[in-house]
Amino acid sequence: MPLKVGVIGTGWFSKKHADMLSKMDGVQVQAICGSSVEKAELMAKDYGAKSYGQLTEMLDKEKLDAVYICVPPFAHGEIEQQLIERGIPFMVEKPLGVDVQTPKSIVDEVKKKSLITSVGYHFRYSQSVQRLKEEMENHTIGLVSGSWMGSMPQVPWWRKQEGSGGQFIEQTTHIVDLVRYIAGEVEEVYAAFGNRVMKEKFDQVTVHDIGSVTMKLESGVVAQLSNTCILPEGVSQVNMNYFTDQGMVTWQPGQVTISEPTSKVEKVFRSENPYLIENEAFLHAVRTGDTSRILSNYQDAYRTQIVTVSALESAQSGLPIKIRGIEGQV
Ligand SMILES: NC(=O)c1ccc[n+]([C@@H]2O[C@H](COP(=O)([O-])OP(=O)(O)OC[C@H]3O[C@@H](n4cnc5c(N)ncnc54)[C@H](O)[C@@H]3O)[C@@H](O)[C@H]2O)c1
Repeated sequence: MPLKVGVIGTGWFSKKHADMLSKMDGVQVQAICGSSVEKAELMAKDYGAKSYGQLTEMLDKEKLDAVYICVPPFAHGEIEQQLIERGIPFMVEKPLGVDVQTPKSIVDEVKKKSLITSVGYHFRYSQSVQRLKEEMENHTIGLVSGSWMGSMPQVPWWRKQEGSGGQFIEQTTHIVDLVRYIAGEVEEVYAAFGNRVMKEKFDQVTVHDIGSVTMKLESGVVAQLSNTCILPEGVSQVNMNYFTDQGMVTWQPGQVTISEPTSKVEKVFRSENPYLIENEAFLHAVRTGDTSRILSNYQDAYRTQIVTVSALESAQSGLPIKIRGIEGQV
């Protein structure tokens, strides 16, 4: 019997996941739930799936083995609660929300029920990140710098603070998550955010358009991450640099460059599709109960969410924020 998967959301990333799922052996895209049934119908016909405008109706009528949640950051909460109540494993796209309160109530329930979850921090599954992680295992990391520089996504929710949480919570979260994955937990953050361009250029922009965040890690490593969304479309930079006792290692999606006194090695991983590995890991867990291939579950992603939301609080208050009591919270 194929696994019956439901997809919530009818936007860009729902389609990206549904396209991948529909090509996988033993998987059936069974139902699509949109914010309106018309939008769901339009998407569902590409996959021969059923369409719904109400989540409760989809969950009542279909016997789903797993659900993909691909909705904007503001739309989380009720969806996850319904899936938890029914014990349905879910894969949710990052970020977990626009704040910490909503994910906090979810993480507690997920833990209580030992529900299988996966969160879309897909870079963790890429060969380039695995190579970087392996390289860092025998280095002493001193400093990390990283950036997410690009243009402003044009979906309307992104430019609103209450819609996306802002760039650091919505996009740079990937880099925060990777720093945690490779260099360990964050102890303290200090952030300076600003508005330079986008408020003047577009209507209804309430998110910051530049930011710089300093993070102290429990290990003593210091990381400095910057982001902006003021660049023209087509110009971007996403990277991390690790400065260690043995040299310098630079990561960008699909590429690792190792610079040491005696050598410079560039390794390019053009064929990688981390989303596919991420999806296979989650569905393997649903099929077998073996969660060992899932590299980011809800509990882990919640820690990343605490850091990114603390950065926003620091930028708003002008004060450093200690990330305390995470153990007690997850
Ligand atoms: N991991 C990645 O690389 C990656 C890439 C792109 C997007 N994403 C994430 O995926 C999420 C969705 O992004 P997108 O680009 O698809 O956005 P989008 O605006 O294209 O689509 C969002 C969809 O969600 C629907 N929606 C909103 N509330 C809903 C609800 N309560 N029930 C059902 N549907 C609802 C909207 O109608 C829309 O169809 C975001 O959190 C984004 O950060 C992740």
